[in-house]
Amino acid sequence: MKRFIATLLLFASTAAYAALRDPVVARHGMVASTSEIASRVGVDIMKKGGNAVDAAVAVALTMAVTWPAAGNLGGGGFMLIRNADGTSEAIDYRERAPLAASRDMYLDANGKIIKDASTDGYKAIGVPGTVAGLMLVHKRHGKLKWSELVEPARKLAAEGFIVTAFLDGVLHDHETLKKLEPWPESRRIFLRDGHFYTMGERFKQPELAATLARIQANPRDFYEGVTALRIVADMRAHGGLITMKDLREYEPTIRKPLHGSYRGHEFIVMPPPSSGGIAMIEMLQMLEKYDLASTGWQSARYLHLITEVMRRAFADRAEFLGDPDFVKLPVSALISPAFAEERRKTIDPEHASISTEIRAGDPAPFEQPDTTHFAVVDSEGNMVSNTYTLNDWFGAGVTAKGTGVLLNDEMDDFTSQPGVPNVYQLIQSEKNAIAPRKRPLSSMVPLIMLQDGKPWLAVGAAGGPRIISTVLEIVLAVVDFHATLQEAIDAGRIHHQWMPDEIFWEPNGTNPDTRAALEKMGHKFREKPLVHISDANAVMIDPKTGLRQGAGDPRRSGVAVGY
Ligand code: GLY
Repeated sequence: MKRFIATLLLFASTAAYAALRDPVVARHGMVASTSEIASRVGVDIMKKGGNAVDAAVAVALTMAVTWPAAGNLGGGGFMLIRNADGTSEAIDYRERAPLAASRDMYLDANGKIIKDASTDGYKAIGVPGTVAGLMLVHKRHGKLKWSELVEPARKLAAEGFIVTAFLDGVLHDHETLKKLEPWPESRRIFLRDGHFYTMGERFKQPELAATLARIQANPRDFYEGVTALRIVADMRAHGGLITMKDLREYEPTIRKPLHGSYRGHEFIVMPPPSSGGIAMIEMLQMLEKYDLASTGWQSARYLHLITEVMRRAFADRAEFLGDPDFVKLPVSALISPAFAEERRKTIDPEHASISTEIRAGDPAPFEQPDTTHFAVVDSEGNMVSNTYTLNDWFGAGVTAKGTGVLLNDEMDDFTSQPGVPNVYQLIQSEKNAIAPRKRPLSSMVPLIMLQDGKPWLAVGAAGGPRIISTVLEIVLAVVDFHATLQEAIDAGRIHHQWMPDEIFWEPNGTNPDTRAALEKMGHKFREKPLVHISDANAVMIDPKTGLRQGAGDPRRSGVAVGY
């Protein structure tokens, strides 16, 4: 039956590319994440009577065990919730700068950036928000007991899980070695001091299991108990900034989602300190003025238009955005149709713009005052779109001694020095300068889209700024080209972020003819493609049948599981 339905879905698609895989289809609930084990945990929680938020909490905790490069307790993120009753909420559990942080902390005496100081080691670490964020959403929306949601993660850490071919590759990757080798605790746990875990072996994390057991009994343990004391002791031993006061005073923030619409589909996205939500609204408003469907999916004309809107949205991101609790942001102007139209008018349909000539727009006239994504839908139609991160691959590389908890390097998302690119080659402004308790600007953009006022699509991605372009391309694939969810996720991607002035591309994102046509228009491509630009996971409710669909990204072995 399931296969039959999925086949129908495939034939219903009018997308230009045939899908190699169908989306996963199920009747009641669906989870799509980068970890198959975590997706299964989420489904088990829903089968026990939990809702989408319960499942999301359990998935997030499980991925801290099974997907150590990005799943986390020691990072932060954004959770976007759309309840079946039509209400919605954006939970900001992004890390904060420690109280001892300062604007120029990554500059040397000559005002030059100290290499790697904001990405590697103890000074790169922001005050983690994940545990507090999960506690908060559970308190507000959860149905099952907190301890039940922690138990699968605790058990997997204590008893171990079988290393997949994918994780085997990750643990042997030279970037992983570069990150983790300098730090004895990380080297011991994740690299087994050089005796690497390989596919089929069982990976146990006893210290992390004990931390999860403490959090299971009392989640505040992370912020004021034994776990907090151990994190702070480790900080002191290595010149880190985080103190007991930082941890004790960390609080997630409940924000109102931003609302947009695209070709009749309303959608909600994360407000600042995410830059992604604003960028998505700005880009989709510009693109709505074009008949994209007639350009042909992945055609040169299509890629030209999406590149031009990305270029403009990223120029505005660089100039105007930061933490709304600290700086005044022209949010309503940036998401206004009038501003999008001003920006769109500067797009030449035949020629590429030059990024240095683009600059940020002037929103004033319109003023009214490495990461992982998973998505969940339950049987009642509650949807969760969650992106959380350690920032870099394995964060700062540091595991707090005696906790098994890897810590983030989110401080690199701040502007270390205006005009100087960060790890993602992003240029940022003074608005995103470092200040105690401030949250760094993020590109994470969990998105939930509606059809006829009912929840339809929950999507998001990993990959720093490439999250923004990825989510855009998935939305366009589904809305303009009627791709199935899996086609949309699998399709090749491109990315442009204003600076550097070049198109990032995946090997299957374009072909030589298309690139030649774009180069003739003046676009520049990065010399070499990126093996993958990002990875995304998504769930959907089919409006006609009510069936749940899910799609995991093959780029990082993402798996959707339904029931
Ligand atoms: N750490 C990546 C982001 O939040 O954009």
